[in-house]
Amino acid sequence: MNSVFLGPPGAGKGTQASALSAEFKIPHISTGDILREEIKAGTELGKLARSYIDDGNLVPDRVAVDIIKNRLEKDDAKNGYILDGFPRTVPQAEMFQKILEDMGSRLDLVIYLEASEEVLVERLGGRRVCRDCGKIFHLVNMPPKTEGVCDLCGGELERRPDDQPEAIRHRFRVYQDKTSDLINWYERRGLLKRVPGDIPWEETYEMLRETFAGDDGSRTGRD
Ligand code: AP5
Repeated sequence: MNSVFLGPPGAGKGTQASALSAEFKIPHISTGDILREEIKAGTELGKLARSYIDDGNLVPDRVAVDIIKNRLEKDDAKNGYILDGFPRTVPQAEMFQKILEDMGSRLDLVIYLEASEEVLVERLGGRRVCRDCGKIFHLVNMPPKTEGVCDLCGGELERRPDDQPEAIRHRFRVYQDKTSDLINWYERRGLLKRVPGDIPWEETYEMLRETFAGDDGSRTGRD
C-alpha cells in the first residue's frame, strides 16, 4: 500500500509510521528525517534546509519533491511505503501526483491524524529524539527506561531545535496556512481516512494496524 500520513505537528505521524513500518516491512519515508540527516552530515542540502527548519518554516516545494522522487526510485519502495510529512502543500501534492503517473503508480490512502493544538503543544514540548537512531520518546507519555538514553541503541536523547516554544507556534501557523488545504484536496479524491491522534498511541496504532493488515494489494494490483 502506498500511503501518506498527514496531520499537524506532533499528531504522532512519526511514532505511528515507524511502528507500522517495522511490523509491515515497508519503508517509512519522512522528509523531516531526511532533511535532519542532511543537516547532521553538513551537506549543501543540509545547510539550505537548516535555514528553514529550525525556525519552523517549510523548505521550498521543489526541494521536498526532488527528495521524494529520488527516494521512491529505490527498490525498497516498490512494494509500498509510508510517506510522513510529504506532501505538505497543494503544489507538492500536484507534483507528487505527476511523479506517480510517470512511474505508472498511484496513491492508495491518506491517513489524517487529528488532534487539537492544545494536546500537541504539550507533546512537542516533551518530545525527545535519539540523536543516533531517531527513535521518538516523550518525557511523560513515552519515557525511556533510563532518563536521557535511547532504549533501542543507547544513544543520547535530544530536543529538536524546532520544538522550542516560538518555533512550535510558528509551525502551527504554517500548517494552517499551507498544509491544512490538503485535507479537502485528498478528501475530494476519495483517499482520506480520518484517524484520532489524541488518544493513547496504542489505540491509534490498533486502528491503523487493522487498515494496513486489511490491505491485500488488490487496490494497487500488486501480488
Ligand atoms: P517533520 O519532521 O515532518 O515535522 P512535523 O510535521 O512538524 O511533525 P512532527 O515530527 O513534529 O510530529 P509527528 O506528527 O511526527 O509527531 P511524533 O510522532 O514525533 O518536519 C520538520 C520540518 O522539516 C518542517 O517544519 C519543514 O521545515 C521540513 N519539512 C519536512 N517535510 C517537508 C515538506 N514536505 N515540505 C517542506 N518542508 C518540509 O509525536 C510527537 C510527540 O508526541 C512525541 O514525543 C511522541 O512520543 C508523543 N506522542 C505521539 N503519539 C502520542 C499519543 N497518542 N499520546 C501521547 N503522546 C504521543
